[in-house]
Amino acid sequence: MHLVSVLGSPRPQGNTATVLSIAEAAWSATCSLERINLRDYRVNGCLGCGCCQQVPGEPGCVQPDDAPALLQRLLAADAVIYATPLYCWGFSAQLKAFIDRHFCLVTEAGGPAWKSLVEGKPMALLVTCAGPEAGNADLIQVVFDRIGQYLKGRIVGKYVVPFRTSPDRLGADARAVAERLAADLARLAAAGSMRP
Ligand SMILES: Cc1cc2nc3c(=O)[nH]c(=O)nc-3n(C[C@H](O)[C@H](O)[C@H](O)COP(=O)(O)O)c2cc1C
Repeated sequence: MHLVSVLGSPRPQGNTATVLSIAEAAWSATCSLERINLRDYRVNGCLGCGCCQQVPGEPGCVQPDDAPALLQRLLAADAVIYATPLYCWGFSAQLKAFIDRHFCLVTEAGGPAWKSLVEGKPMALLVTCAGPEAGNADLIQVVFDRIGQYLKGRIVGKYVVPFRTSPDRLGADARAVAERLAADLARLAAAGSMRP
């Protein structure tokens, strides 16, 4: 089984990376892992040109940046974990740009011929934030659910680590969230239901 995690934090040693590393360590016994640190790549904003909609069956984006190759890595994964710090109640700009570029994976959305190249793929969201979950990290979970529906993905769960200001003060609760995420994915894999 091959897991790909997408780190949307600009801080490679920050809170989100630290929590994600705990989950990755738990998976490493049973899975092959690949981490995409979005800050290391060039992912432009979607141009909204719609050209990709004319190229069904592949991420047919016209922009010659890193997004198409990164999306190919997602297509090859058995499951994808999107990890982000909460920025202004939403995704980091790095992750938001990348998620917008997922547009090229979907054609005919909403219609009878609605297709997605990631249909059935397990997806999870990991968020760290400085404030509480309620009234703060709630909207991002709603948006992630909508994105999952649009992509026809399979949402494994949304995992929030609140009250984080420093990676050296993560605490047992952060570890528990990371381990819950790892356990939920392991359960899915053990049930043989990673692939659609
Ligand atoms: C630009 C910016 C916006 C932020 N917005 C929020 C927010 O809306 N709610 C919140 O609780 N924390 C917010 N934070 C705090 C971060 O989400 C939090 O410290 C997070 O754990 C940082 O993760 P990182 O170390 O992986 O970058 C914000 C931080 C920055 C830099």
